Amino acid sequence: MTGNSMNNDMERVLIDEEELNVRIAQLGEEISRDYDGKELVLVSVLKGGLYFLADISRKIFIHHQIELVGASSYKGSTHAVTDVRITKDIDLTLSGKHVLLVEDIYDTGNTLKVVYELLRMHKPASLEICALLNKPARHVESMSLKYVGFEIEDHFVIGYGLDYKEYYRNLPCIGILKAELYK
Ligand code: IMP
Ligand code: MG
Repeated sequence: MTGNSMNNDMERVLIDEEELNVRIAQLGEEISRDYDGKELVLVSVLKGGLYFLADISRKIFIHHQIELVGASSYKGSTHAVTDVRITKDIDLTLSGKHVLLVEDIYDTGNTLKVVYELLRMHKPASLEICALLNKPARHVESMSLKYVGFEIEDHFVIGYGLDYKEYYRNLPCIGILKAELYK
């Protein structure tokens, strides 16, 4: 991975840095208003959600805590279904708190569903979802989102936390990966 190769591997930029900043600031304001006076905990999923969590947290101007969950998904060799495993559980007490699950993308929804169910077992006062990206064409599990950054078409996207083979997370924008690189 040298020089410009990250940018050269993009078909095109889908959402640039400025658009991300503007939208995340709007979401931060909305969340600050909606959760004013409540004990808010933002929970994100490793590793893709890290960048969004760090940025949106700084656009929320009310007190809140942050927490991380680890989840790994893989396609079993014999099953078409994706298996999601929790690799890191919650450390904070969530019971009685207002939990907002902050995710990079609602793709099939398999990960969201498993993490949502895990959080529900911790008995929060409320549990809602904020996804930066929503890809409706790919949904398998139906989840309801309280906040959405952007609805996108069925492209494989990289950047701003999203990876291909663990690379490209550090791109400051969301881009479409060139199809020849993964086909
Ligand atoms: P799910 O299919 O909704 O469970 O998404 C599982 C995970 O796959 C997400 O949290 C992302 O980390 C990853 N993912 C889904 N769609 C994309 C994409 O377009 N680019 C990169 N990663 C993705
Ligand atoms: Mg990934």
